[in-house]
Amino acid sequence: MVPGHAVSQEPSACYREEDPCSNPRVESTIGEVITRRAALKTTAAALAGTLISRGANAKEASPKSKSPPQGGPSTLTFQELQHGYDRRASVAAGYDFQVLLGWGEPLFADAPNFDSRQQTSTRQSQQFGYNCDFIAFLPLPSGERNAQRGLLCVNHEYTDTNLMFPGITDASALAALPKELVDVELAAHGHSVVEIQRRHNHWHIVRSSPFNRRITALATEMSVSGPAAGHPRLQTSTDPTGRHVIGTLNNCAGGVTPWGTMLICEENFNNYFSGDPDKTPEARNHKRYGITGTSRFSPAWAKHYSRFNINREPHEPNRFGWVVEFDPHDPDSVPIKRTALGRIKHEGAGIVVNHDGRVVIYCGDDERFEYVYKFVTEGRYQPGNHAANRNLLDNGTLFAARFDEDGTVKWLPLVFGTGPLTAKHGFHSQADVVLEVRRAADLRGATPMDRPEDVEVSPMTGHAFVILTNNDRRGPEQTDQANPRPVNEHGHILELIPPASGNEADHAADVFRWEVFLRAGNPDKPEDGASYHAKVSQNGWFSSPDNGAFDNQGRLWLTTDSDHHVTGFGDGIYACDTTGPGRALPKLFFRGPRGSEVSGVCLTPDNETLFVSVQHPGEEEGSDFQKPSTRWPDFKTSLPPRPSVVAITRRGGGVIGT
Ligand code: FEO
Ligand code: CA
Ligand code: CA
Repeated sequence: MVPGHAVSQEPSACYREEDPCSNPRVESTIGEVITRRAALKTTAAALAGTLISRGANAKEASPKSKSPPQGGPSTLTFQELQHGYDRRASVAAGYDFQVLLGWGEPLFADAPNFDSRQQTSTRQSQQFGYNCDFIAFLPLPSGERNAQRGLLCVNHEYTDTNLMFPGITDASALAALPKELVDVELAAHGHSVVEIQRRHNHWHIVRSSPFNRRITALATEMSVSGPAAGHPRLQTSTDPTGRHVIGTLNNCAGGVTPWGTMLICEENFNNYFSGDPDKTPEARNHKRYGITGTSRFSPAWAKHYSRFNINREPHEPNRFGWVVEFDPHDPDSVPIKRTALGRIKHEGAGIVVNHDGRVVIYCGDDERFEYVYKFVTEGRYQPGNHAANRNLLDNGTLFAARFDEDGTVKWLPLVFGTGPLTAKHGFHSQADVVLEVRRAADLRGATPMDRPEDVEVSPMTGHAFVILTNNDRRGPEQTDQANPRPVNEHGHILELIPPASGNEADHAADVFRWEVFLRAGNPDKPEDGASYHAKVSQNGWFSSPDNGAFDNQGRLWLTTDSDHHVTGFGDGIYACDTTGPGRALPKLFFRGPRGSEVSGVCLTPDNETLFVSVQHPGEEEGSDFQKPSTRWPDFKTSLPPRPSVVAITRRGGGVIGT
């Protein structure tokens, strides 16, 4: 808790910066005080002889990095914005943005209008949720590439109690939160599906659409499938079957399957539980997932709901941390927690159909020193065969990544009965492996990374880009070539290169190559150790990349989740080529208002609209419902500020980026 700021919700985006590292493999050094000065000296030493400023040559910066080409222009010809930190959102010249959806937006014809002082769980369940994150646009009719009409599917990751309700200005008010307000928060979590249409370069919500839906943490029933379904460690007093869960929590990023379903990923589920983990039969498990027993939200959650009290329901946390699949075209479909993909702090799901028809899903586990994973289905995707594809994600092999100094990635299978994943180490079935997949990956020797967030696969090259947001606790002696900087405040992006099979990438292969795509940070500060294309501008550099999306030309659109105290400016969207003369040359396209994180970037199939989530505008130290400093004047004027989805189009129409 920040002194003088009694509400325990520090401005920290979806990730609590104070969250300890949970990986025992690095515990011995993580507790040591790493002074910034010492680390910077080490950075300078570690990267000695390499150019680490604007004009850097990545080959010199890292033996595994491809040389960024010198002097070539970006294919992104828009006039880039300037860095800044103010109360307005801004977009590059020649573009317009509209605030399409905001917290409380009615999603149904009979849904009540938003009134921030009269919010109830019933109203919230019919309205757009809080803190929007991942966005997908699914054209309508289903299966077509129509970019004028579609379903916008949006995650609602978490809530900010102090920004949502008046009077929550200290810890005692937070602790005394009445059940109805806890219910509003539960109903503000989850996901929204809403039909939208484009008319005259403007997007409209279709409230009467039969597809519109809210999925919430309050009331949406979900089933569990895969190796852990029905396992005793998933059973609770209200669900002795271990197969039926109420709701989904902390849905961060996600993905869209080739068969048209949504994958929404449960990330920081550890933040929701109260109690003493050491007094549960799951103490080791809870500790490995950072479940300390102190709720990030309010102890009132556990007071009103025993399922959030781990001493009452020690298995409840085992029912979160999964990838959830649902069919947005069927508003009655029951979301399914696909346990074969493992239980981690799932950031997102980077999906690709392999050359042989198997489906490969890349996942990051967003915590300091956690791992990168991939899941390879056993069955093959069959276009148009719904029955064959429906449960593809229940059978397959989960792997964790080990990045070797020789520039290869070894994918380590996490399969019960193989290697150390046996009863000797407490694994009695594949259910135990997927439930405690972090510990399985520890034993396998996966490489602890600098907070792996999104993994995105280029539609042009088939290379997978792993976005590592930062890791300010990596010690000088803990660096390796894939995580080359101690006290990595700015993050970096790795490019994973699958071997070729004929003319196509083999994403199911056991060994890939890897390279550093870029190292974020200020290229004018040698101590940052940044590395971009030589021509990155004063405004093109960034810190803490988080989400990404490729456009049709293979250009990567990145969003940031940084700390303006570190950078001096707010979060935004940066676009860069991943091949050709403009490789690794980012340009600033959009900037969110102060206090916000920009996430969930998504393009329509024609690339003429770019949707982005503006999460938690106004979330700053000491901010609350009443403070005018939290207002976002670009949006509707009412208090409090409303997390929103923004639609960006080119004035007069045309492809985004020029
Ligand atoms: Fe929810 Fe890792 O961002
Ligand atoms: Ca994220
Ligand atoms: Ca993040």
